[in-house]
Amino acid sequence: MSQLLIRGGSRLAGEVKIQGAKNSVLPILAATLLTGGQVELRGCPRLRDVDASIRILRALGCGVRWEGDSLLVDTTGLNGCTISDILMREMRSSAIFLGAILARCGQAELSYPGGCELGPRPIDLHLAGLRDLGAEIDDAGGTLHCKAPRLRGRELVLSLPSVGATENLMLAACGAEGTTVISNAAREPEIVDLQNFLNACGARVSGAGSTVVMVEGKRPLHGCTYQVMPDRIAAATYLCAAASAGGSIFLRDAREQHLATVTAVLREAGCTITADSAGIACACRDRLRAVRPVRTAPYPGFPTDAQAVLMAALLRSRGATVFEENIFENRYRHVDELTRMGGSIRVSGRVAVVTGVDQLYGAAVRCTDLRGGAALCVAALAAEGETRVSEIGHIDRGYEDIARDLRTLGADMIRTETEI
Ligand code: UD1
Repeated sequence: MSQLLIRGGSRLAGEVKIQGAKNSVLPILAATLLTGGQVELRGCPRLRDVDASIRILRALGCGVRWEGDSLLVDTTGLNGCTISDILMREMRSSAIFLGAILARCGQAELSYPGGCELGPRPIDLHLAGLRDLGAEIDDAGGTLHCKAPRLRGRELVLSLPSVGATENLMLAACGAEGTTVISNAAREPEIVDLQNFLNACGARVSGAGSTVVMVEGKRPLHGCTYQVMPDRIAAATYLCAAASAGGSIFLRDAREQHLATVTAVLREAGCTITADSAGIACACRDRLRAVRPVRTAPYPGFPTDAQAVLMAALLRSRGATVFEENIFENRYRHVDELTRMGGSIRVSGRVAVVTGVDQLYGAAVRCTDLRGGAALCVAALAAEGETRVSEIGHIDRGYEDIARDLRTLGADMIRTETEI
């Protein structure tokens, strides 16, 4: 069983390169299905969720292979439109394949992705939008049987700006006749990256990054070479690591315009952050200060994916900080584990109050989910003694090698593959 062993107390120093974005590459991998050609994805991160997407693509008849940090996907041989239950359950965001398969094949069959460690993970907005485009979807018995001999573009209004629904509908709309307009679309940078990828393949998509995305359907798409954007949540994690441990680091390729709410909070807490086109530099010399309430919100608000790592960084701050989680119902599962390390956190519904303590202590802790697991590492860097983090498969879903990256920055951290 893999574990992470972290001995706290080392200040961080040095430079690390930020991996390609998980939340960008997953919809892009689904989008490769639309091309019927060969795609080279540069800077594709090697993650458990990417491996799960590769298995889905291969099961559908596509050729996929790594060449260095590029992933080569050849979707000319696509010969299926069914994703098995086992493959669907490997990854929460597998529903993103639905729009792409429907657009390319006119039918699709896959099981419901179900709930996850963050609480229920409904896809009702995805399905409603696909139905509006003309798909017939029968979801009896946990399997989605979808038929769309003909998709027709039209205006779709999302009742909330869901990232996954926006992406799924963008993919389906590429196969629809006429123009699709998605209103109240999510504005995340990963949606802009998906638009850029689709346009590089010959699609005509515009508006991503704003609340209205437009897709001209039925354009013939071809393969392309595409560089995946840097992962803003991995960057936020390492900024919080420096804030927690203290020190001075440089995150190569990180883009501050994607992280403005996170860097604003860290500056308020006392960190010095500067950025240019090469990356983001962060120096944290003194004990952090508590900050004004942190409320998670759709982009450009504070990202829910950075809530746990920021909370971990503030465990030893002076004063109390209020967190309000507004995106997922069950996103405080890391709190019990952080408390084991000496953190003082009180949760009431969607609100958590972190009161800074003088000292954290190494402990045996367990990852509860991807970002919650990263938060344990962030806290461990500032704890006295050794922290043993187990169930790190969650972390592997989204970080190429968190131990390698933090060690590059001077942390005393190793991954062990044997049970201790
Ligand atoms: C994406 C990200 C995830 C991030 C989240 C919010 C990927 C692969 N994952 O997830 O890391 O935490 O955005 O920034 O990009 N909802 C519904 N019905 C739907 C769809 C969503 O009620 O059909 C709700 C969800 O339960 C959740 C909220 O909308 O409460 C936001 O979800 P959404 O934006 O869809 O997140 P994901 O795309 O699943």
